[in-house]
Amino acid sequence: MDVPPLVLLLCLHTLLLLLHHTRCKTLNTISQTIPLHDGDVLLSENKNFALGLFSPGNSTRRFIGTWYNKSFDHPSDTLIPFMKLGRDPRTGMDWVLTSWRSEDDPGSGNFTFRFDFMGYPQLFLYKNGAPHWRVGPWMGLRWSGVPQKISNSIVDISFENDQKEFSILYGLRNTSTIPRMVVKSSGMIQRFIWHARDSQWNELGTAPAFECDYYKACGPNSYCNTYNADQFNCTCLPGFEPQSLADWLLRDFSGGCIRSRGSSTCLSREGFVKVALVKVPDTSRAYVSMSMSLKECERECLKNCSCTAYAGADERQGGTGCLAWYDDLLDIRTFSNTGQDLYVRVDASTLGTDELIYT
Ligand SMILES: *[C@@H]1O[C@H](CO)[C@@H](O)[C@H](O)[C@H]1NC(C)=O
Ligand SMILES: *[C@@H]1O[C@H](CO)[C@@H](O)[C@H](O)[C@H]1NC(C)=O
Ligand SMILES: *[C@@H]1O[C@H](CO)[C@@H](O)[C@H](O)[C@H]1NC(C)=O
Ligand SMILES: *[C@@H]1O[C@H](CO)[C@@H](O)[C@H](O)[C@H]1NC(C)=O
Ligand SMILES: *[C@@H]1O[C@H](CO)[C@@H](O)[C@H](O)[C@H]1NC(C)=O
Ligand SMILES: *[C@@H]1O[C@H](CO)[C@@H](O)[C@H](O)[C@H]1NC(C)=O
Repeated sequence: MDVPPLVLLLCLHTLLLLLHHTRCKTLNTISQTIPLHDGDVLLSENKNFALGLFSPGNSTRRFIGTWYNKSFDHPSDTLIPFMKLGRDPRTGMDWVLTSWRSEDDPGSGNFTFRFDFMGYPQLFLYKNGAPHWRVGPWMGLRWSGVPQKISNSIVDISFENDQKEFSILYGLRNTSTIPRMVVKSSGMIQRFIWHARDSQWNELGTAPAFECDYYKACGPNSYCNTYNADQFNCTCLPGFEPQSLADWLLRDFSGGCIRSRGSSTCLSREGFVKVALVKVPDTSRAYVSMSMSLKECERECLKNCSCTAYAGADERQGGTGCLAWYDDLLDIRTFSNTGQDLYVRVDASTLGTDELIYT
């Protein structure tokens, strides 16, 4: 194994000790007396270069993986703290995750996990280049498509969002609990957390997990509303009806929904109905303003007859910012006990109705 003669810190037995200097050793080279074991990680003194050895799956072969805060040398399938996802437009550098070809073969597989920068940036899992699961935009406390909050006692998420760079980086608060995320060759994203107290990785969850997670599981202007994959159901948004009732009854939801016939949502006493606990619609053509309040957002949306819905852009501090949509509302799902409030433009008669699902 050729290792450049860098000054490296050798952190024994786990890559989790990345920043735990007291348990790292400084080395100039790897020698036979201090061998590198599977799972060990070498970290450069300035902490922006790391190298590790691993044997994937049942493979008898060994691979060297490297991480560098500027690129990865090889597309990596794992996100660990201090790795970035995003883009630097000045250099055209993209920080993405790529699945392996199989559990035993770290060659590039069919799945990539990356930001899409159209409209308001969102995270996507792509399968052979096509959207597979939309994780959605970052809502301040969680990704819109992932119900779990990211505990800020565990990670310290930092965003760079300016002309120079758009990226997200998970920093660490405490080396005793460390998150890790892997894009499996099967297209599943597995999240783990390291607990130093019992020295092991615990799985936090896998996604996409439900029929409703897959991109455009339901057609335009409808939402996917069940956790039970066997009962895969779509429901039209308030003020909308199935584009084809026949298809809908045959449980072909792909055509989605259209405005209820005869309704008017332009300067005719229309308003908004809240659909609670959702993953917000695809924001690749949405408008965003972080300085507006929700009330201002509503006023702006109401002013323009093409505006179909709005939502807060940041869940923190009771909800601030404004996301507004001006065309079909795509890829919406509901969650059972978390999510954003989506305010859908409806005509005066829909405003009057009192259906349970809308709060
Ligand atoms: C990553 O590299 C850049 C440029 O070399 C440097 O400014 C930055 O501090 C590094 N980040 C970390 C976490 O080491
Ligand atoms: C490794 O081998 C075991 C036993 O043959 C098998 O059950 C398991 O699925 C294999 N794992 C992978 C990743 O191929
Ligand atoms: C990747 O996708 C291609 C094209 O759909 C398919 O032929 C191939 O089997 C897939 N590879 C894996 C590992 O699933
Ligand atoms: C880190 O977490 C451990 C275990 O939960 C806790 O005992 C320790 O006080 C924490 N350290 C800091 C600096 O918060
Ligand atoms: C989902 O579909 C099933 C079967 O078509 C139906 O019985 C059930 O009520 C639907 N659930 C919802 C929440 O609409
Ligand atoms: C309404 O919004 C659309 C989409 O953003 C825009 O093209 C159009 O100019 C707006 N109309 C008015 C009257 O502001």
